[in-house]
Amino acid sequence: MSHIFLTGFMGAGKSTVGRLLAGRLDRPFVDLDAEIERREGSSIPDIFRTRGEDGFREAEHRALSALAELPDAVVATGGGVVLREDNQVLLRRSGAVVYLAVTPEEAIARVGAAGDRPLLAGGGLDAARRILGARLSLYSLTADHVVNTTGQSAAEVVETILRRLDDPDCAVVHVGGDGDLRVTGEASSGGYDVMIGTGLVDQAGLRIKALAPDASVAVVADDHVWKSLGGRVGVALDDAEVRYSLHLVPSGESSKSWQTAGTLLDDFASAGADRASIVLAVGGGVVGDLAGFCAATYMRGIRVVQLPTTLLAQVDSSVGGKTGVDLAAGKNLAGAFWPPSLVLADIEALASLPEAELTNGLVEIAKGLLVNGGDPLDRFERGLDGVLARDRAATCCAVRDAVAFKARIVTEDLRESGLRECLNLGHTLGHALEVLVGYGTLPHGLAVAEGMRFAALLASHLGVSSPGVAERTTALLDRLGAGEAVVRPVLESALNRLNPAALVAAMKGDKKSRAGVVRFVLLEEPGRWSAVAVDDATLLSVLDMWYASLEGGV
Ligand SMILES: NC(=O)c1ccc[n+]([C@@H]2O[C@H](COP(=O)([O-])OP(=O)(O)OC[C@H]3O[C@@H](n4cnc5c(N)ncnc54)[C@H](O)[C@@H]3O)[C@@H](O)[C@H]2O)c1
Repeated sequence: MSHIFLTGFMGAGKSTVGRLLAGRLDRPFVDLDAEIERREGSSIPDIFRTRGEDGFREAEHRALSALAELPDAVVATGGGVVLREDNQVLLRRSGAVVYLAVTPEEAIARVGAAGDRPLLAGGGLDAARRILGARLSLYSLTADHVVNTTGQSAAEVVETILRRLDDPDCAVVHVGGDGDLRVTGEASSGGYDVMIGTGLVDQAGLRIKALAPDASVAVVADDHVWKSLGGRVGVALDDAEVRYSLHLVPSGESSKSWQTAGTLLDDFASAGADRASIVLAVGGGVVGDLAGFCAATYMRGIRVVQLPTTLLAQVDSSVGGKTGVDLAAGKNLAGAFWPPSLVLADIEALASLPEAELTNGLVEIAKGLLVNGGDPLDRFERGLDGVLARDRAATCCAVRDAVAFKARIVTEDLRESGLRECLNLGHTLGHALEVLVGYGTLPHGLAVAEGMRFAALLASHLGVSSPGVAERTTALLDRLGAGEAVVRPVLESALNRLNPAALVAAMKGDKKSRAGVVRFVLLEEPGRWSAVAVDDATLLSVLDMWYASLEGGV
């Protein structure tokens, strides 16, 4: 049996929305309060008056238990149904729970200050704030989906619910802590959770409230992203009664600077952020790195929650705890390891992502899953058409597998002492290309893709890789829009700067090279890699081959 339960505070619209939803799904509608009155033969105010709240809750529990016998319905529950633990268990066991969030102000505007609501007892807005505040964590604990209703018509809320019910289940990947890693449907303690799913933007306030009920939040957001997502983030924080200050930074890498970090830290102080405050980073890797770095340094470190909005940030930069800013001397030269307290990777947030940014993230996923090998790589190859068509279930699956891979690596190697080196597949040549062609001219994903193709060529030249590895790598990169046909024209425009000697010099200058010897992560086969020091003569000869093919054009 699988009911759809609507939970939420009074005035959230459970009955109105429930009736409409039941109509759309062609299911019966049950109003739990009406059911209690029918079963008990008494009105709710009368039950409260004669039996007190405990007596009412008993009657409510009996009515809820009896629903188990009914055919699948849409059930509008009473606002306090989540107060009893046995009710929470019943709700979760008997169907999908949709929490309809509403602010106390909006709730009072909808139902009036007193009405026939026994619990308000004439207390108006203050009573509503107090009661909702005490229940918020229970609503969030019980909910499968959170839908914000403030400013939405009942019809709009119904559309959102229908979308949520169709969406893939949320996955939670656990990172760090005691070193274990789980991919489950349940959040867990120790380390931090990366939640991957839809509707997570709307849950931001509740999730933060669950981390720290009284913390104020400093939201650091990319101004471009905020234009499209800010409304929803703001409503989510307001609905959960989270106090927050907003700090917008211009979109783009130039915001990842020492100067911007300094301004933000001053702004946090002016906004009254204290040691208990939480930074919420809303944006791609730029904002995630910058806001994480500020969190790491403000008052010697406060918590950060990441809400990554690019695919790259969801699968890579938000996971692992590396934060930082760029210096005049180079990228990421000042930073700190500062793991987030929570990552909310909302697949829906990717809907507006430009194609080129999607490709950047896909290259990162391909890199990780080639290193990982096995089922996750096969699943990615099988589901890639869906991801490219922005199918939410396919994207969710790819992000979950990529995050699980990255989480495993960083959990085992929290401070980059060895294992993390595998994440550098494609980066040795990729970084050198970025330096010589110019950051921004050659997008990072395309640079890494070319680096991966070169690493595959090198691996087969050195006899390190099994037959077919280079072909599989190339075919995958082609499919995801980072093939030679895309990368080569950009490189050809910088041909004079890309001669092999210049590339070797750039690779030696990279902070990842050791004692002037260039190291490459090479794939022996999917799932097996090694880091190989390559002498200059060998490197130059393979680069000559690579360069000749570049000169020859595509
Ligand atoms: N910390 C790490 O481990 C790590 C790992 C990889 C990369 N990084 C860093 O991440 C940064 C790159 O991250 P990025 O690729 O996410 O770049 P980004 O943050 O600059 O975002 C790319 C562009 O996409 C836009 N954007 C973001 N979300 C959007 C959305 N949902 N819809 C429409 N547009 C959206 C942004 O405004 C920006 O213009 C670099 O600074 C890099 O050094 C860090």
